[in-house]
Amino acid sequence: MKIIPGPASKQLGEKVAKFLGVEAVPLVFKTYPDGESYVRLEGTVQNEEVAIVQTTSPPQDTRLIQLALIADAAKRHGAEKITAVVPYLAYARQDKVFLQGEAISIETVARMLKVAGVDSLITVNVHQAKVLAKFPFPAKTISAIPLLAEHFKQKGFEKAFALAPDDGALWLAEEAKTVLGDECGCLEKHRDLYTGQITMKKKTLNVYGKTVIIFDDLISTGDTIASAAKIMRELGADKVYAACVHPLLIGDAEKRILESGVEEIVGTDSVPSHVSKVSLAPLISKFLKEHKSG
Ligand code: R5P
Repeated sequence: MKIIPGPASKQLGEKVAKFLGVEAVPLVFKTYPDGESYVRLEGTVQNEEVAIVQTTSPPQDTRLIQLALIADAAKRHGAEKITAVVPYLAYARQDKVFLQGEAISIETVARMLKVAGVDSLITVNVHQAKVLAKFPFPAKTISAIPLLAEHFKQKGFEKAFALAPDDGALWLAEEAKTVLGDECGCLEKHRDLYTGQITMKKKTLNVYGKTVIIFDDLISTGDTIASAAKIMRELGADKVYAACVHPLLIGDAEKRILESGVEEIVGTDSVPSHVSKVSLAPLISKFLKEHKSG
């Protein structure tokens, strides 16, 4: 097996190659003056099983095209099997027609990757796992929540309350609880499909005087975490932390979250940023090792 670290996940891809003790294929990539992407493999992939590591956080469209171009280049130059390792899978939230006239964006993305040469895909904490069943190739999601919870445990946060912002994310808090050992629970969130505005309902939870860690798959505008943190404060939580797999942190999300009373945000290198304190490299390497053909 060889790893191709894509331009959006160069460090993560190189780490994965190191963990696996395999070659990281160098890639030349550039952007033309008109904005088009260019890629060229500098190593050989002939008869190799390859894994392209490329996240698709903003700028999503550019990163998706880069991934498709890398897959095309690898297939064209003899790669036997191509696995796309896409820690943050863009467009995964548009997984159904919510309002009449919409596209199912994630299905379009999957078909595009298939045409480019992708044979299978691995992502991390995709918004809804069931969406992967509709992909035109085998696709799996793995969870980084135990790694995030372990990070907090190592820092002495054993017995923190694991909170999910809504019942759809409750399983994330439950997973964290298996590492942290205390209680878990969730709030109730509603999002207006036209304005995108969220409202969060207060619920009675046993957080008084406790440290609470809010777990979510991603932080985009920060509205979800900020609203949940405010409720935790009102319920008497002593300290509130935020943990997410994909720290997109759009605009002033970080500022708003910290202003809502969150002590610290911890994310993974799914989306490289200054809050990406946990690396996905061990998780991805383990998965690739266990699922390597032959
Ligand atoms: C949505 O259901 C997701 O799990 C996240 O809670 C959401 O996308 C976070 O978005 P934001 O940071 O904009 O509230």
